[in-house]
Amino acid sequence: MLEKLEKLFNEFTSALEKLSKEAEILNLKSEYLGKKGAISQILAGLRDCTPEEKKQLGPAANEVKNKIQELINSKLQKLEIDAINEKLASEREDLSLTDSVMASNNHHGGIHPVTLIQTEIEDIFLSMGFDILDGPHIEDEFHNFEALNIPADHPARDMQDTFWFHDPHAETDEKKFLLRTHTSTIQVRGMTSRKPPFRFIAPGKVFRCERTDASHEMVFHQLEGMMVGKDISVANLIYFMKSLLSEIFKKEVEVRLRPGFFPFVEPGFELDIKCLICSGKGCSVCKQVGWVELLPCGMVHPNVLKAGGIDPDEFNGFAFGLGLDRLVMMRYHIDDIRHLHGADLRFSEQFKTF
Ligand code: DAH
Repeated sequence: MLEKLEKLFNEFTSALEKLSKEAEILNLKSEYLGKKGAISQILAGLRDCTPEEKKQLGPAANEVKNKIQELINSKLQKLEIDAINEKLASEREDLSLTDSVMASNNHHGGIHPVTLIQTEIEDIFLSMGFDILDGPHIEDEFHNFEALNIPADHPARDMQDTFWFHDPHAETDEKKFLLRTHTSTIQVRGMTSRKPPFRFIAPGKVFRCERTDASHEMVFHQLEGMMVGKDISVANLIYFMKSLLSEIFKKEVEVRLRPGFFPFVEPGFELDIKCLICSGKGCSVCKQVGWVELLPCGMVHPNVLKAGGIDPDEFNGFAFGLGLDRLVMMRYHIDDIRHLHGADLRFSEQFKTF
């Protein structure tokens, strides 16, 4: 009987080895361990054995039964693990695929160079505690001129050739709305919406009815800045402008102030930087002067503070208006401003991609 048990076990192991499907293994299990299975029959046959035989055969039959059960369980478990691994391998995603397909089939967008410079300058001013403000492109006369100390009959209005909107339903020919000619409009909006002390910058597009050429466009970009508080001096203005320009050009820059006239500042200045190309010796970029005109600025005119609801006897401040296009052209050696709005992909794709 013991021999028969051993033979059964050997038959079972070699049968199990050949199987690879769950259903087949479960069939084999019931062939051996099922109610009418081979092992169950041997255990049932113990009834007719002598007590001596029972003592020997009983534990041996149980041991074989347990071994068969164990082998079946581990085979089923292995099958399950193999199935999971197979699924994982076949469903694997090649994440590099999208990139390589994109690279060969699709265009990557480029970030416009004006946006590149603008975000860089915004970061510099944010680190110096300035807020960033925005304002509308379509403005009224008050914000574009009057509040900035440029009344209706002021000759400075002629300095900025303006796009006006005519209201076809208006009874008179009154011109009230216009495309803003400078970002200084946001000085007024900034002052009326906060209490001093404050400091902010305001980048954006501005519009002028210009004849276009390599250095003039009808749409261009400025970045306005304003700081208002108590006892602010020209030294503060120079400090912030020097810090800004040294950060932008990644080296210490030398600056000088010349008198400049703008109705909204008194005194007003033109801030020049020592030419970075020739270090002040004179070259074609600085027109042999050694200095490049970069930044109009000044101390805010008391009338402007008043128009913004601020008492000029208590507070003062400085303001500046940076021309972004000029800066972009210097940084990237662009020789014609019209490229910036040309929508030529060969131009824009040269800049940093997303
Ligand atoms: N708004 C002036 C322009 O477009 C530039 C300017 C000059 C802005 C002096 C200022 C300033 O804030 O103080 O020509």
